[in-house]
Amino acid sequence: MTGRVAVVTGAGSGIGLEVVRLFAGEGCRLVAADLDPSACEGLPGVHAVTVDLGTAEGARRVAAAVLDRFGGVDILVNNVAVAPYRDAFTDVDDAAWQHTWEVNVMSCVRLCRELIPMMVGRGGGSVVNIGSEAARHPKPYLVDYAVSKAALLALAKALSTEYGPAGVRVNTVAPGPTRTSTMNRFLGSLARRLGVDPEAAAEHFVHEMRGLALGRMNEPADVAAVVRFLAGSAARQVTGAEYAVDAGSTTSM
Ligand SMILES: NC(=O)c1ccc[n+]([C@@H]2O[C@H](COP(=O)([O-])OP(=O)(O)OC[C@H]3O[C@@H](n4cnc5c(N)ncnc54)[C@H](O)[C@@H]3O)[C@@H](O)[C@H]2O)c1
Repeated sequence: MTGRVAVVTGAGSGIGLEVVRLFAGEGCRLVAADLDPSACEGLPGVHAVTVDLGTAEGARRVAAAVLDRFGGVDILVNNVAVAPYRDAFTDVDDAAWQHTWEVNVMSCVRLCRELIPMMVGRGGGSVVNIGSEAARHPKPYLVDYAVSKAALLALAKALSTEYGPAGVRVNTVAPGPTRTSTMNRFLGSLARRLGVDPEAAAEHFVHEMRGLALGRMNEPADVAAVVRFLAGSAARQVTGAEYAVDAGSTTSM
């Protein structure tokens, strides 16, 4: 990773922050973009950018930052997403659909459009999109989120075909349940519903609700490790692929 340049979105917490820490620790220079990237400030080689990635202007600012600061880019990790809990499909109005689409899909579309040409100019690069198990197992309470994550799979496949000849690989990491602040909020409400403490709720979620084969949730570092593999030269023959990091939650073939 030494001497490489990466952009990570949604870098302020959870999986994105773990990717930034891992890459920075290996000598990568980074632009870390988030509404609140303060957790990245002070990490070696990391330029934190405060930005709303649900806007076209946000993507432009990230592209300008990486060009100004580092002169180009080798790796793009499209990690930012919102995952609002929905009580019913009919409650999700156009504005809500649009917001999920802008943050989860259009941030990725816009950054790929800005940054892939820079990678091509350097002879190649690697794009890693963070998808979700929800793309293949859509739950009604995450309907717009699941649709957005399915769209990312199609986008990665199309881009991998178009830009493979230019040396740019495009892959997807699809996490299952991962212990981040979003997950902790969910476990908090589950605990209140069940009348138990959050750790008991986590156990119930892992064993009863989800039946995770490995018997534990991912930590953010478990997902970051697979992102690291796909970003680096060990994966030089891997493109258009989807890597599940889900503790065995996907039981279909
Ligand atoms: N945590 C899980 O269980 C899980 C499961 C499957 C997939 N994922 C995926 O992993 C990725 C990371 O999830 P996480 O749980 O680490 O998330 P998180 O909630 O911990 O972090 C998301 C980050 O995105 C930032 N963000 C949100 N909206 C933004 C916007 N408009 N502009 C800029 N920044 C914005 C937030 O400030 C936050 O720092 C997401 O793509 C998510 O869909 C997570």
